[in-house]
Amino acid sequence: MTNPLTPSPAWKLLEEHFREMKNTSLRSLFSEDNNRGERFLIENLGILFDFSKHRISTKTLELLVQLAEERGLAEKTRAMFSGEKINITENRAVLHTALRAPKGLVIMVDGINVVPEIHEVLERMAGFANSIRSGAWKGFTGKPIRSVVNIGIGGSDLGPVMAYEALKFYSDRNITFRFVSNIDGNDFAEAVKNLDPEETLFIVASKTFTTLETMTNARTARQWLLDKLADDRAIARHFVALSTNEELVTRFGIDAGNMFGFWDWVGGRYSMTSAIGLSTMIAIGPDNYSDMLAGFHEMDEHFRTAPFDRNIPVIMALLGIWYIDFFGAQTQAVLPYENYLKRFPAYLQQLTMESAGKHVTLDGENTGYDTGAVYWGEPGTNGQHSFYQLIHQGTMLIPCDFIGFRRALHPLPLHQDYLIANMIAQGEALAFGKTAEEVRGEGVAENLVAHKVFEGNRPSSTFFMEKLTPANLGKLVAMYEHAVFTQSVVWGINAFDQMGVELGKVLAMKIIPELQEKGKLLEHDSSTNNLIGYYRG
Ligand code: F6P
Repeated sequence: MTNPLTPSPAWKLLEEHFREMKNTSLRSLFSEDNNRGERFLIENLGILFDFSKHRISTKTLELLVQLAEERGLAEKTRAMFSGEKINITENRAVLHTALRAPKGLVIMVDGINVVPEIHEVLERMAGFANSIRSGAWKGFTGKPIRSVVNIGIGGSDLGPVMAYEALKFYSDRNITFRFVSNIDGNDFAEAVKNLDPEETLFIVASKTFTTLETMTNARTARQWLLDKLADDRAIARHFVALSTNEELVTRFGIDAGNMFGFWDWVGGRYSMTSAIGLSTMIAIGPDNYSDMLAGFHEMDEHFRTAPFDRNIPVIMALLGIWYIDFFGAQTQAVLPYENYLKRFPAYLQQLTMESAGKHVTLDGENTGYDTGAVYWGEPGTNGQHSFYQLIHQGTMLIPCDFIGFRRALHPLPLHQDYLIANMIAQGEALAFGKTAEEVRGEGVAENLVAHKVFEGNRPSSTFFMEKLTPANLGKLVAMYEHAVFTQSVVWGINAFDQMGVELGKVLAMKIIPELQEKGKLLEHDSSTNNLIGYYRG
């Protein structure tokens, strides 16, 4: 297999350097350098990013930065921010960064400055959100809206649900928010349980307005509403659409006046700051939403302008490459020590894995090196009582991202001290472990010593911020967006298409009639035929 990265001088140097580093321990790296904790630390944008507990030296970082330079990261970043069509397989610009650009900026796509259009939609969203929050918007029978149900999937669900959960503290508690994504009818049935159609607003969120799951759920929602309100005119008071496809929105029966648009240059998984954020805006209000956009923009600017060796997303990305391509790591754990961030790892799964799960380069060549890692995680401390065992004593190397906040949103200081002590302790335990001598020193019986040894040398980053606010959430999301973009540039892959989701969808469309028409001849493999046969009964 050809490897398009082998001609890169930095890649070759990293291969040699890895031979020196692979057996170097974090214990020795820290004992050789009293300033290591400060050397590999960035404090910027209200984020303390500690990356000292990584199996790197100053030289590693220099070579990784050289790799990013050789791969043209600066030029590719400029191209993305300026609206060039870098999504070459779909011939599209990639401009989620424009969604949070301040009003005065000029960003051209196909000869049009897109920033005024973006702000026009934001203002319409704010007007609508305020009218729902104040009760001025009335349902068909004159009652105010008390429940909002977002129907969408993938990027049209994960961003909204993650942001709603993350920012619940700031949300309007007089309105109930629910999210329906799955085609599984249980999802819809539970989402509308105990809701009153007269007081319910459905937000149908779909970039394409063709997605099977979303359109099926939206049709079911329409029927659920009409079963009670029995008048098609009720749709206009209880349905809004977030989409790029006005024709299909109106064909569904939603008035174009109730549609909030966005553009083909917003990828689904990069869309939470487009109109797709409407449920978030209704929940937290337009001012908090603006703060969130400002946080995104701050991180966009940091990524665009900071030198690579002081650039948070760039360093995160390069560390990921170091572990995936040199140490053979296959997964990346994301461990927020903040319960409100419970859906953050799930959100990151689509962002990172739909973006970097590619086996060919932009030229269509097999990469020959590993690309995207599996992202996963749960909030601390729950994970500690579940899967941390494997991270500490298993046989796989799993880099961890710890995310924590100094100040809690609740008035329970003891809980916060315990929580943060645990986060800090986990990074320390992973890095330094416990040797057999130390275990013996505790008087442990010899037959148990090996079981109680922690090898250590397990890497982690810690992202410490002041408090979970809308702005800080924006910074965190944009940080991962730009990290995955950076990795895609180094790997030479397209982070903005998702062709790998197509095949299964096409095959499902073929199987649907085969499940429904029992006599239909089955021409799949024997396993697939059996499964269809079992369902048919
Ligand atoms: O599953 C693939 C995908 O295209 C995602 O990338 C996207 O976020 C999701 O489906 C939903 O798409 P849409 O917003 O068009 O309904």
